Amino acid sequence: MIQKPKGTYDIYDKKGRTFQELEKLMAVLMENYHYEYIRTPHFEASDLFHRSVGESSDIVSKETYDFLDRGNRNMTLRPEGTAGVVRSYIENKMYGDSIMPRKLWYYGPMYRYERPQSGRFREFYQFGVEVFGSDSPMMDAEIISIPVNFYRLLGLKGIKVNINTLGDQESRRNYREALVEYFKPHLDHLCEDCQTRFEKNPLRILDCKIDHATDIMKNAPKITDYLNEESKKHFEDVKKYLTALKIDYEVVPDLVRGLDYYTHTVFEVEAAIEGFGSQNVLCGGGRYNHLVETIGGPETPGVGFAMGLERLLDALDCEEINIAGESSLDVYVIPMTGMEDYALSLSNDLRLSGFQVEMDYMNRKIQNNFKQADRFHSKIIIIIGENEVKENILTIKDNHTKQEYKVKLEDIVEFLDEKLAEECDCEGCHHEN
Ligand code: HAM
Repeated sequence: MIQKPKGTYDIYDKKGRTFQELEKLMAVLMENYHYEYIRTPHFEASDLFHRSVGESSDIVSKETYDFLDRGNRNMTLRPEGTAGVVRSYIENKMYGDSIMPRKLWYYGPMYRYERPQSGRFREFYQFGVEVFGSDSPMMDAEIISIPVNFYRLLGLKGIKVNINTLGDQESRRNYREALVEYFKPHLDHLCEDCQTRFEKNPLRILDCKIDHATDIMKNAPKITDYLNEESKKHFEDVKKYLTALKIDYEVVPDLVRGLDYYTHTVFEVEAAIEGFGSQNVLCGGGRYNHLVETIGGPETPGVGFAMGLERLLDALDCEEINIAGESSLDVYVIPMTGMEDYALSLSNDLRLSGFQVEMDYMNRKIQNNFKQADRFHSKIIIIIGENEVKENILTIKDNHTKQEYKVKLEDIVEFLDEKLAEECDCEGCHHEN
């Protein structure tokens, strides 16, 4: 049997409904924040990711799905969303718009050839945002507030916000030099990956999962000692605005993030829930004031974040939060033998009138059809027999009270509207008149 590729999964039933609910909620949240939706291709020229996410990142050095297309072009399945959105911002000359800052959000699958484990997939979904044209620390705080508010709206309690700053280019350069000086005599004691990082991006040594707990790491220089005044001020302001937004945070000096493009603020939100797996980073992001230039656009500050949906689903499960609505059904239509075309056409008309309709396609016995209607929790059953078709009068059963009605075909929509409004006690439902 052909099986799904390693590190992927199928979404259906309750998980499918949970995903759909999350998609609806993020769209509403983004409308409230006044962001525009953007969709970019799932694959891009490989060079885009080499220049943005960076050669020294694990993502580009080990994890991309690369392929040559039939025109011999090097292509890569996107490992993240930022690079594509930046490319689109430049290519579509959005920097020429009168709308500034340009606030965009996206949602979709990303691909990384990682070792699959709980919370880590090769195809996974990200909800993310990117903002261009503002270097205000208010924007950094707003970006951090989006996932925090999303988690709050979902009722998730166990979250922890970690922040840090990498400073501007000057501060980062000075810090980098200090790290090189510091790590040089210890190189032999670092893991193989860190030795490569030492050459390409020594900051990333701090991110190492293997050497993390060693004294060498603990005693490494801290970025806070290398920030210039401007960078310090930016970070202080971000913290001030987070406090204004009532967002608790911890400053974690060795938080550097796994992508090369960041300057100034970086942050992650982790799941602080008992029993949660080791992949506990629910989302991450930060500021990237030089990425647009690096990819060939005009000097433009940027900031954004992305969250993984799978880890969010795990967090919701862990806190026993259920947001998947029950699948519901208004009407179940049962055709007697020979009446299928009438039933099909009636179902079609009712669906177009806005009702949720299922019908029997299996020529079941009437008792089995009643059981089927119960299984779907159908509120109404319509039985189509020879007489009904001849007289255009439908036999309708209220599946809760079990009462039967005869209703003229032309009155059916009005009847169902009234009946379902009586049945329905959910707020905002279209059945309420
Ligand atoms: P990232 O930290 O690589 O950042 O990914 C963001 C989130 O995606 C992670 O916190 C995690 O929840 C989820 N994630 C990443 N890899 C996997 C995986 N293999 N399986 C499941 N979930 C995963 C970025 O991607 C940046 N583009 C974020 C950003 C946007 N920075 C600025 N703007």
